Amino acid sequence: MRFTFTDEQQMIRKMVKDFAEKEVAAAVPRMEAEDRFPEEIIKRMGQLGLMGVPIPEKYRGSGMDYISYIITLHELSKVSATVGVILSVHTSVGTNPILYFGNEQQKQKYLPKLASGQYLGAFALTEPGAGSDASNLKMSAKPTAEGYVLQGTKMFITNGGYADTYIVFARTSQEGGYKGVSSFIVEKGTPGLTVGKKEKKMGLHGSSTVQLNFEECHVSKEQLLGSEGDGFKIAMANLNAGRIGIAAQSLGIAEAALSYSTVYAKEREQFGGPIANQQAISFKLADMATEVEAAKLLTYQAAFMRTEGKDCGKQASMAKLMASKTAVKAAIEAVQIFGGYGYTKDYPVERLFRDAKICEIYEGTSEIQHMVIGKHILRA
Ligand code: CAA
Repeated sequence: MRFTFTDEQQMIRKMVKDFAEKEVAAAVPRMEAEDRFPEEIIKRMGQLGLMGVPIPEKYRGSGMDYISYIITLHELSKVSATVGVILSVHTSVGTNPILYFGNEQQKQKYLPKLASGQYLGAFALTEPGAGSDASNLKMSAKPTAEGYVLQGTKMFITNGGYADTYIVFARTSQEGGYKGVSSFIVEKGTPGLTVGKKEKKMGLHGSSTVQLNFEECHVSKEQLLGSEGDGFKIAMANLNAGRIGIAAQSLGIAEAALSYSTVYAKEREQFGGPIANQQAISFKLADMATEVEAAKLLTYQAAFMRTEGKDCGKQASMAKLMASKTAVKAAIEAVQIFGGYGYTKDYPVERLFRDAKICEIYEGTSEIQHMVIGKHILRA
């Protein structure tokens, strides 16, 4: 395994770090205070080529490898986990399904717009009654002469309301469990598609999470992604890679918690000296740093395998499991090191604490990652 980044990967890391520290950091206070979707940041990311990092240049992407994409999410999430998740959902599960499962006509129609940032993508799998048990989804897609009519409700849709395209999963056959699930590209503004309740979340302020209602929503045959019955496998294949993105987001949060805590521990004086001199604090920092490194190795190993085109399902789940746990623990410890100040909104660790938790929930809970890893081990 390589332990160094290529020149191109180092270049994108530096570019994203500069952008995040200058432009994204300046937008964070408003996102936090007003729960405001950062449209101007998304527009800038389009101009910088960040909305299509792993998408081939022929579709107006940046044509870089998956590791570069993971580096992008990692660096952005050190500054804003909100911007991290918007980009992760847009790319991993909003754009990649079309790249890997779309026909050439669908690729030509959607990829240039998505990869250039003209369009924002989203992924609509979860339903009120089907979260972890995704193949139990109820939304129907009944065949008509021209295509299909979608009927049902989707829940917790990241980027919902702002997205231009949704990858939607619905049942084309009532029989066959996961085999009856198909996927569709549904455009914003399609009659019958309406945006419902916007969730008020604990963290990730500024990101949009909504319910989507499909009522007599007609889509043409051309909107079917893959073949009928392919939907569940398309969802799983893209979630595998998506989970590496959430691992990178978690890593960004964990590293930010460690970095803020280290600086603070050296500055804050109690008992006649910096609290960093207290073993209770330095051991906390040592644990945080060790766990961050372990999570980083797993995340980049999974990204490396994905870049090489290898099956990375097990490694992606391991990376997400480990990195999200690390983010939560590091954020809790950061608040502890900051003490009373850490519990206030005057310091950023309070935000990291709230943002970290969702990483153990979305794109498959930690319990689901255990199931996936367990299945891989037992199958082998
Ligand atoms: N990769 C590839 N194929 C997979 C797979 C994976 N990770 N998981 C399952 N499959 C395949 C299986 O091999 C099987 O195919 P065969 O019959 O040909 O062998 C088929 O799919 C069905 O598999 P299972 O019987 O294991 O399916 P299941 O119904 O028991 O579900 C599960 C498996 C792992 C629990 C799955 O339902 C799952 O991942 N659930 C979590 C859903 C999830 O992650 N939701 C996230 C929503 S999106 C989101 O959060 C985005 C956001 O907004 C941030």
